[in-house]
Amino acid sequence: MPSTVVVGGFFGDEGKGKIISYLAQNDNPSIVVRGGAGPNAGHTIEDGNKKYKVRMLPSGFLNKKARLMIGPGVVVHPDVLHKEIEEFGTAQRSFVDNNCGIIEKTHTDADGGGRLKEKIGSTGSGTGPANADRAMRTLKMAKEIPSLKPYLIDVAQELHTALDAEENVLVEGTQGTFLSLWHGTYPFVTSKDVTASGICADIGLGPKNVDDVMVVFKSYVTRVGTGTLQGELPMDEVAKRGWSEIGTVTGRQRRAAEFDFALAKRAVMLNSATQIALTKLDVLFPECAHKNSFEDLSAAAKKFITDIEDKTDVAVMLIGTGPGVTDIIDLRE
Ligand code: GTP
Ligand code: IMP
Ligand code: MG
Repeated sequence: MPSTVVVGGFFGDEGKGKIISYLAQNDNPSIVVRGGAGPNAGHTIEDGNKKYKVRMLPSGFLNKKARLMIGPGVVVHPDVLHKEIEEFGTAQRSFVDNNCGIIEKTHTDADGGGRLKEKIGSTGSGTGPANADRAMRTLKMAKEIPSLKPYLIDVAQELHTALDAEENVLVEGTQGTFLSLWHGTYPFVTSKDVTASGICADIGLGPKNVDDVMVVFKSYVTRVGTGTLQGELPMDEVAKRGWSEIGTVTGRQRRAAEFDFALAKRAVMLNSATQIALTKLDVLFPECAHKNSFEDLSAAAKKFITDIEDKTDVAVMLIGTGPGVTDIIDLRE
């Protein structure tokens, strides 16, 4: 802080939602702002016995004082947004940039079948076709949609005003580094650059406006949809290890592989990461479940963490030890 950008280091679903909701509650940002592609993203957040699924609003909404913003680089599906605003009761503090693109029925129809669905394994959310229309300069903007009027704002201006006043801003990326349109496993990628630079461009922060870049890795790698996954394990082995996961948006079974140090090193490079957050350590090392201090981790878990630090040259600062927002080890000063 004051400005921290959080991005996914693998193929999305690293558990960014939980990390961001922890940071939003702990670091008191005045604004939590989302960049990234669109409602193809899905974050799951567990708070006590409540479970929230978020696709459009920033997952920092649990901090009731923070203003929640969506940057102009993100395409918005108004129905998905209205539903979340209602569900989370955030109407007074949710904002959409005037220039966010709008997903319409033509986009969801085009995404729901055919090549994108079958070859790329798209989420069917209309995000890709909407971004294609944005490139063609035919996409509608948020400022043209009456139902979004109460939420319209100039996101870049709000962010810079907050930073000038030395307030904390938390920037939320979606998807993951290797789903980036430029740096991912093309063509099996999403329709935007989702590395830290792309996320900053989505919201109007320049390269010098960022203090920290936190890249989130899960303790193993998962991928939904098609495209290569180095070291992919057979599904029965994934189940045996307790790594089975179901996609938040699509309900699809996620494919899985062991932690990939080479991929992690490349993600650190592409994002200019200054910090690492590691999630689901307890899934790999059940004896570490719900721990809140590094000293209480097992020797094997500690070695796994120091291996990551040695191979990437970046410190692991947050460690997820369970599904709840408080199941975390925070090693920042
Ligand atoms: P992003 O798209 O990166 O936000 O992740 P996601 O929300 O799609 O990931 P996923 O659905 O796999 O992760 C969310 C689930 O995992 C939620 O139920 C979280 O509470 C849980 N989770 C997050 N971090 C941890 C962790 O460190 N340990 C365990 N056991 N569960 C976690
Ligand atoms: P699209 O972004 O819906 O076009 O999907 C393109 C590819 O990116 C597919 O393989 C999707 O499964 C994947 N993808 C898109 N968004 C996410 C995400 O938030 N998490 C994981 N995979 C995603
Ligand atoms: Mg997800």
